[in-house]
Amino acid sequence: MTRSAIVTGGAGFIGSHVVDALLADGYRVTVVDDLSTGDRARVAPEADLRELDIVDRPALQAVVAEVEPSAIFHLAAQASVVASVEDPLRDCQVNVAGTLNVVDAAGKLGAPVVFTSTGGALYGDDAPMPTSEDRIPAPLSPYGASKWAAEAYVNTWSLSSGIPHAVCRLGNVYGPRQNPHGEAGVVAIFTDHLYSGRAPKLYGQGKPTRDYVYVGDVVSALLAAAGKAGTYNIATGVETDVSTVWKELSDAAGKHIEPELADLRPGELQHSRLDISRAKRELGWSPKVAIAEGLRRTYETLIEEFEQR
Ligand SMILES: NC(=O)c1ccc[n+]([C@@H]2O[C@H](COP(=O)([O-])OP(=O)(O)OC[C@H]3O[C@@H](n4cnc5c(N)ncnc54)[C@H](O)[C@@H]3O)[C@@H](O)[C@H]2O)c1
Repeated sequence: MTRSAIVTGGAGFIGSHVVDALLADGYRVTVVDDLSTGDRARVAPEADLRELDIVDRPALQAVVAEVEPSAIFHLAAQASVVASVEDPLRDCQVNVAGTLNVVDAAGKLGAPVVFTSTGGALYGDDAPMPTSEDRIPAPLSPYGASKWAAEAYVNTWSLSSGIPHAVCRLGNVYGPRQNPHGEAGVVAIFTDHLYSGRAPKLYGQGKPTRDYVYVGDVVSALLAAAGKAGTYNIATGVETDVSTVWKELSDAAGKHIEPELADLRPGELQHSRLDISRAKRELGWSPKVAIAEGLRRTYETLIEEFEQR
């Protein structure tokens, strides 16, 4: 019998890559997405797209009951830190109540959920680096707070039902199909500036670091986490500063434009680097794509996407 999976947020940047990997693995895939930041064109034609809001509990429950998935990959979210500051209530409704709806619906069928939380927006500036999952979160934004609250529901529902739900705390994810709004949006923003020959602003004088992880590596981690109960940092354990990202992308473009340096914006972290030893040990996973190679691939595919606009 063909296995089936639901991918919430499957029309988004990371979710659409999860959909492709599941289809390649022989799954029947249903995408649940309200297309608020997602794009129908990203969804492979073999997948069944259901356009709905995960906050709409009866509609979500009906789709889950109909599909009877063997796993749910839950990526649908209000995923922008900036939007969470502007409208924290909507951020809370989608990220907290929406996630509760997903684990509730999954519980009725005994299906494990893999939930994408954030490693970049959860730990705060005082955390020792590399930061392990055991560090008590100290988020600086409503987005970090809502992801942390949602994690609590996922873990509590896992403990009380015995269904192995996994929480994957992603680093700053970059790669083909990414948009400028996510946590590694800087890669898409810089590519756009290089494409149109404009100087970008490097906040924090180009010094803030992030743990950038290639989307293909994130997808293999999410697939490995299905059916595991636990919380895992999914990143590379390597930090890269913003100036280096700009330099690598400029090299890929063969262009050299002097960037503008600016101060760090409120709510932004100085540094982030995650300890990924638990994911290596318990999921048998490790990232394969180094940042220079990943940025080159991303630059080339984003330019192709820009040219089709
Ligand atoms: N991109 C990153 O660097 C990063 C880092 C850490 C965690 N994450 C998490 O990974 C997940 C995917 O992020 P992404 O970068 O692909 O973002 P994205 O915005 O491209 O994808 C989110 C998808 O969810 C859909 N969606 C939003 N609200 C919805 C709702 N109420 N009902 C149904 N669908 C809804 C959107 O239309 C979109 O297709 C999110 O949960 C995000 O918080 C991303």
